[in-house]
Amino acid sequence: MALELCVTESYEALSLRAAEVIGDEIARSPNIVVLAATGRTPLQAYKHLGDACDSAAFDTTRMTVVQLDEYVGVAADDRRALIGWSKRVLIDPLHVDDGRVVSFHGADGDPEERCRTYDATIKARGGVDLAILGLGPNGHLGFNEPPSRPSDTTRIVRLTEASIESNASYWGSVDDVPTHAMTAGMDVILAARRILLLVSGSHKREILRRTLDGEATPDVPASYLREAANVTVIADRDAWPGDDLETTAAAETAIDVLA
Ligand code: PGA
Repeated sequence: MALELCVTESYEALSLRAAEVIGDEIARSPNIVVLAATGRTPLQAYKHLGDACDSAAFDTTRMTVVQLDEYVGVAADDRRALIGWSKRVLIDPLHVDDGRVVSFHGADGDPEERCRTYDATIKARGGVDLAILGLGPNGHLGFNEPPSRPSDTTRIVRLTEASIESNASYWGSVDDVPTHAMTAGMDVILAARRILLLVSGSHKREILRRTLDGEATPDVPASYLREAANVTVIADRDAWPGDDLETTAAAETAIDVLA
């Protein structure tokens, strides 16, 4: 187990650092399987990654991008489809072709069946090498809503009020947010060979504290990251709980403060 904490001065510095970590992983393992979050937090890191790709810093022709979650009942071409979001901000800028994208739209059938096909496809590709995650305001990872446990598999979940409200800011209003989603299981996420958790903004400070402090609990699914193999948390100063952290494990871990 290893948890590395990195605090940056700004969101921009967080994004540059994250893009550097992801780019280095792609350069080291061109066949990499990357589970990639949507949401606002990784957007600027993806932008820097796309720029690095254009300057040929690494080869993306063999990498695979795996979708983290998707709304139920939303077609791939719906404006709210999370796969469309991934394509715009990450998949297309990195020139990853469709054959190297694992999504919840990869199979026909009901959402349950899609979840099974999704899991089987990830397994066939050797599992996830790098998971790029945001932190839900309620502590969710993907749409593993509280309560979620490490053994929870890829499945359909009912979104919590908190997630519906926070996702409403992406689509206009709460009425535009579907009530259910398919999410990569906690088991898939926690088995990733490396995990990068990106956290930005003062509204995430308390949930980041609960992610790092105290006992891991289903009420804060992200707290189970402490039990995963190789986790790097990059937080900007606004999100960093600093003196509010009680757990010595978190507070005493070497912290790299970047300009
Ligand atoms: P955000 O979303 O990056 O837009 O804050 C994170 C999440 O809800 O998982």
